[in-house]
Amino acid sequence: MTNRNPLTHPRIPAAGESALNALCGNLSIGTNGELRFAGQDVAELAARHGTPLYLMDEDRVRDNCRTYTEAFSRLFRPGSMVLYASKANCFRRMMQVVAEEGLGADVVSPGEIWTALRAGFDPARIFFHSNNKTAADVAFAMERGIGYFVVDHAYEIELIEAEAARRDLRQKVLLRITPGIDTHTYEAVNTGKVDSKFGSAIETGQAEAITALTLAQPHVELCGFHCHVGSMVFAEDVFERTVELMVGFLADVRAALGYTADMLDLGGGYGVRYTAEDPAIDIPRKLEDVAAALRLSCALRDYPEPLLLMEPGRSISADAGLTVYQVGAVKRIPGYKNYVSVDGGMSDNPRYALYGSHYTCLLAARPAAEGELICDVVGRCCESGDVIQPNVSLPADVREGELLAVCTTGAYNYSMASNYNRIPRPPIVMLHNGTDDVAVRRETLEDLIALDV
Ligand code: LLP
Repeated sequence: MTNRNPLTHPRIPAAGESALNALCGNLSIGTNGELRFAGQDVAELAARHGTPLYLMDEDRVRDNCRTYTEAFSRLFRPGSMVLYASKANCFRRMMQVVAEEGLGADVVSPGEIWTALRAGFDPARIFFHSNNKTAADVAFAMERGIGYFVVDHAYEIELIEAEAARRDLRQKVLLRITPGIDTHTYEAVNTGKVDSKFGSAIETGQAEAITALTLAQPHVELCGFHCHVGSMVFAEDVFERTVELMVGFLADVRAALGYTADMLDLGGGYGVRYTAEDPAIDIPRKLEDVAAALRLSCALRDYPEPLLLMEPGRSISADAGLTVYQVGAVKRIPGYKNYVSVDGGMSDNPRYALYGSHYTCLLAARPAAEGELICDVVGRCCESGDVIQPNVSLPADVREGELLAVCTTGAYNYSMASNYNRIPRPPIVMLHNGTDDVAVRRETLEDLIALDV
């Protein structure tokens, strides 16, 4: 699903309390009809912290983490791990929270490693991905005792072997394998197919070849295999089919090379609800199916059950986020279309511009008001592609100065934000138990020129 054509997408209906609550339990409507997020008045938060503003519901992040960790301890071998895919939203406070919840971290760059370490993350619980680690990246990570490298390519094995030999240590690695699965999500995140830029494909024999190469390295310890088939996945049995394919590969490797893997990492990917039209995924239920598939696939091949790892990003942070903007120009072009402009845009949320992603937009003062004006909610960037969401229905009298909230923005918004048009990035305010703490301060104009020499 999810690759709905934005041009034919039906308009989003006005959201009543039940619709809001179904979208995410941390959204509600207060006694004056106002939008509340994580139990707090959105307008009051905007008055205190300004707009545009990213809000993060810390308790929701913790609940999402626990959904995974509780299911994992029930369903998989002790020592199995949930890793937070920090690319979804990476800042110090966020990494502290997921570390406190007992998750490990999936990182893809020295910047994410640095943030995790500065948040107090145990390096042994960090897994370093990336399809193109440089020699400097490899040295940086090894210097800091990063637990595992997730190796994408034979060239990287050479880099790791050389650096580990120099340091006289044995570096633990997983190998990223491309199982050849099409998740039918949008192309930019459909990574399990044979022609992907990521990993070594089973079908072409490259997966087995890189396994043999890795096993021959004296300073590299192969711990198992990784795959990540895609993101925003809703399709029924994708992870179960992935398990079956991967365990089949593990058994083939054992037969060919005499190597038995102790870890199987299935990557991330469960989809979340951006609008009421998206299905809700019952993650514990899905994980039960994954556990059953793992047990069956291993039993069929008499393969010892490996430790299971997963790397959720979006399903940990997306529904913990809400962005608040102030409405500026409201432009009606009779006979054509209407625009409601806000004081942020693709610089803080590029996801519609990049993927045609859907969002739910609400007025903070009257989220349940009847929507009669069909409009595009657009940003302030100097580009017509700067659309937060097209075909939104808002009250006909929507006016300048009102606050507009965009729901489910906790994943891939701040982490993909830019300074396009030299627009400063919004702050992140963490909400917890009725408190609101600035976790990332608002960028200033001085910040924007701080690197200019
Ligand atoms: N593990 C690996 C190796 C990944 O590449 C990803 C996401 C994840 C885990 C986490 O997947 P999640 O649970 O968040 O679906 N910018 C895009 C999403 C890119 C995802 C890239 N990889 C977006 O805004 O939709």
